[in-house]
Amino acid sequence: LAHSATAVAHPNIALIKYWGKSDERLFLPRTDSLSMTLDIFPTTTRVRLAPEAGQDTVTFNGRPATGEAERRIIAFLELVRERAGRAERADVDTENTVPTGAGLASSASGFAALAVAAAAAYGLELDAAGLSRLARRGSGSASRSIFGDFAVWHAGRTDGTPEEADLSSYAEPVRTAPLDPALVIAVVNAGPKEVSSRTAMRRTMDTSPLFEPWALSSKGDLADMRAALGRGDLPAVGEIAERNALGMHATMLAARPAVRYLSPATLTVLDSVLALRRDGVPAYATMDAGPNVKVLCRRADADRVAETVRAAAPGGAVHIAGPGPGARLLAE
Ligand code: DP6
Repeated sequence: LAHSATAVAHPNIALIKYWGKSDERLFLPRTDSLSMTLDIFPTTTRVRLAPEAGQDTVTFNGRPATGEAERRIIAFLELVRERAGRAERADVDTENTVPTGAGLASSASGFAALAVAAAAAYGLELDAAGLSRLARRGSGSASRSIFGDFAVWHAGRTDGTPEEADLSSYAEPVRTAPLDPALVIAVVNAGPKEVSSRTAMRRTMDTSPLFEPWALSSKGDLADMRAALGRGDLPAVGEIAERNALGMHATMLAARPAVRYLSPATLTVLDSVLALRRDGVPAYATMDAGPNVKVLCRRADADRVAETVRAAAPGGAVHIAGPGPGARLLAE
């Protein structure tokens, strides 16, 4: 029996955003989303069953996890135990290579790695879609990090039972024509602590008059995005990603009270991206629940794009990512 398993997973950046849940307990998203998994900043997680232990222990980068992070991981282990029909507690040891303050959410790579490792350690046999559904219950965006390259996460059906809804919401790979894309990540100095994405999503859905129109237009964005990926049209992919992200941020700005993740430095970087486009470089921006800017461009243009955004946001780090692999088990 395995009893101990180690998995690695990478973060992903959504080009069509997930924002808003139709069911918070099951992590069912209001809309479909589509992302690129990165080839940088892996998370490696080992789950070891501890039959003698009375409780789970969670270690994050060599230190005991506390608070909300610990609570979410233990709740996730409970779910895996319930499904596997097992009771043993576990030791979870996670190494996350996202530089501190990079402002890249680690929940996607974190829960994708945890889902793969915990399923193996507890003897839960799941196919890729099953692992994606499971990872979703830790953090919605983790459902997409099960897969490499481009993945689409289906919102699923909401007209049936909770079981039917749960089964219908998972991610799967998206086939693309050759694109040779890069995402240049401009780390913009974060201001005061931001609203958590969970709280912000809920507030946006509950109070923003722009939310439903965005959700509706996001459907069209996804169809356009699939077509653009299918023909390997990077400028179209970028244009659609940028409008979808700006639309998502507009829904938040219209929430009551407003949720604003974009800072003055974010807008300065956005201006530099526009300047690149005026110079004929196809470069397009997307932003998540923070001030950092991810710029989609051709691999061949990535160094020039990195230089430009570095000059626009002095002091912040810049990272270049390509499409990365899906989550996988490591040999013990
Ligand atoms: C803005 O997956 O972190 O990055 O499901 O509540 O854990 P929870 O939220 P999370 O939200 C990600 C939101 C986003 C857009 C995206 O990745 O699609």
